[in-house]
Amino acid sequence: MLGVLLQIRARGTRSPEQGSSLAELAEHIVPHCATLRSLGPVAAPMSGAVSDLSARMILDSRGNPTIEVDCCVGGLLRGRAVVPSGASVGTHEALELRDGGTVWAGKGVDGAVSHVNGEIRDALVGMDVADQRAIDTALIELDGTANKARLGANAILGASMACMRAAAEGSLWHHIAGSGPSSMPVPQMNILNGGAHATSNVDVQEFMVVPHGFDNFPEALRSGVETYHALKSVLKEEGLLGGVGDEGGFAPNLSRNEDGLRYVLDAIERAGYAPGNQISIALDVAAQEFCQGDGYHMDGQVLSGTELGDLYSEWLDSYPIVSIEDPFGEDDWESWTEFTVREGRRVQIVGDDLYATNPGRLLRGIDLCATNAILVKLNQIGTVTETIEVIRMARDAGFGTVISHRSGETSDDVIADLAVGTDAGQIKTGAPARSDRTAKYNQLLRIAEQIDVYTDLF
Ligand code: PGA
Ligand code: ZN
Repeated sequence: MLGVLLQIRARGTRSPEQGSSLAELAEHIVPHCATLRSLGPVAAPMSGAVSDLSARMILDSRGNPTIEVDCCVGGLLRGRAVVPSGASVGTHEALELRDGGTVWAGKGVDGAVSHVNGEIRDALVGMDVADQRAIDTALIELDGTANKARLGANAILGASMACMRAAAEGSLWHHIAGSGPSSMPVPQMNILNGGAHATSNVDVQEFMVVPHGFDNFPEALRSGVETYHALKSVLKEEGLLGGVGDEGGFAPNLSRNEDGLRYVLDAIERAGYAPGNQISIALDVAAQEFCQGDGYHMDGQVLSGTELGDLYSEWLDSYPIVSIEDPFGEDDWESWTEFTVREGRRVQIVGDDLYATNPGRLLRGIDLCATNAILVKLNQIGTVTETIEVIRMARDAGFGTVISHRSGETSDDVIADLAVGTDAGQIKTGAPARSDRTAKYNQLLRIAEQIDVYTDLF
């Protein structure tokens, strides 16, 4: 089945207005090496035993509690990590442990914090901080459940990431890459928010711009930022400018979802860029959020999976869309396969809720030709090692890989280094606004001083 998918991708071509051919895209999926201007600080792992591990509650970008973990080696604080949190959470994700009850509206993390300060600390103290696999295996075995429900994926991931940071001597991206290739990722920048991330009437969760037609990351980022500001003036002129959504994108009410595409296209042009050649559009439909027993509720209609796929095909005919994430519900495998077989040649189809960064679900998707790409979120699976294995598995299958933030974030910028260090090719981290989102873009700007190869995926 996979062979079919790769063939479909390699054969298809986009119209000139829509940019490069998908044959070119397929070529770029082949692992590529980065040209390193300089390796920066030495990246040999810092060995030494974990001497202490401790957690505390801090607040995320939505004002909800989350967990921060510190890892000490030789009595010194060497690594700190904060765990993000989703709003459109898939059923198949590892479990985020919350206290329930009335305090913090049920979202307290005292239980997860005490698991880190107790059992997890006891298990990890004395282990070699550089042996990430052994640390993550110990965490998985200590928890003992299939979805990390006993200790909580938030407690486990916080510990796993804090150890990774503690082990990195110098650049984290270089520590992750080891001797493997690295490159600057193409960002999917969410400039118009809907769905579960806004209080508007828009069903599609994310309208993103993808600045792929540039020589380097800083130029690409600048074009995305200019488009974000251009969208603000477009919406202002239409009388549609209100607040922003959870990921920093504008959150207008629209008469129909397609209007979001039109305004984003207007903004790309107004910013002075060529749609399809320099900047294209990506969507995260997050269709599970409007998938009910009788079908998909969109624009006041109830659509079958096939009808919804037909609507996407019309959008693909009319707009420079290069990527669609979660076009169908998380268990509607049939609709995914039908759509990917038909449209996988001209658009990247990304599984987020569908896969939940879970290797078993990814294998099923590869087998069924359900998508040609995967969204990767550390807290969907719960350890660094499992996350990196899923990325490798997807790449081996020829899939695109998009490293992603969550809608609830903090200033932790680990996904920037993860995207570069795994040579993932793409990153999704919201609008270029609000410090929880710009933290990742700013870290990428720092890394771009060391890596000048920009992966032109589209
Ligand atoms: P979430 O949204 O973090 O609320 O799940 C992000 C996404 O769906 O990609
Ligand atoms: Zn998503």
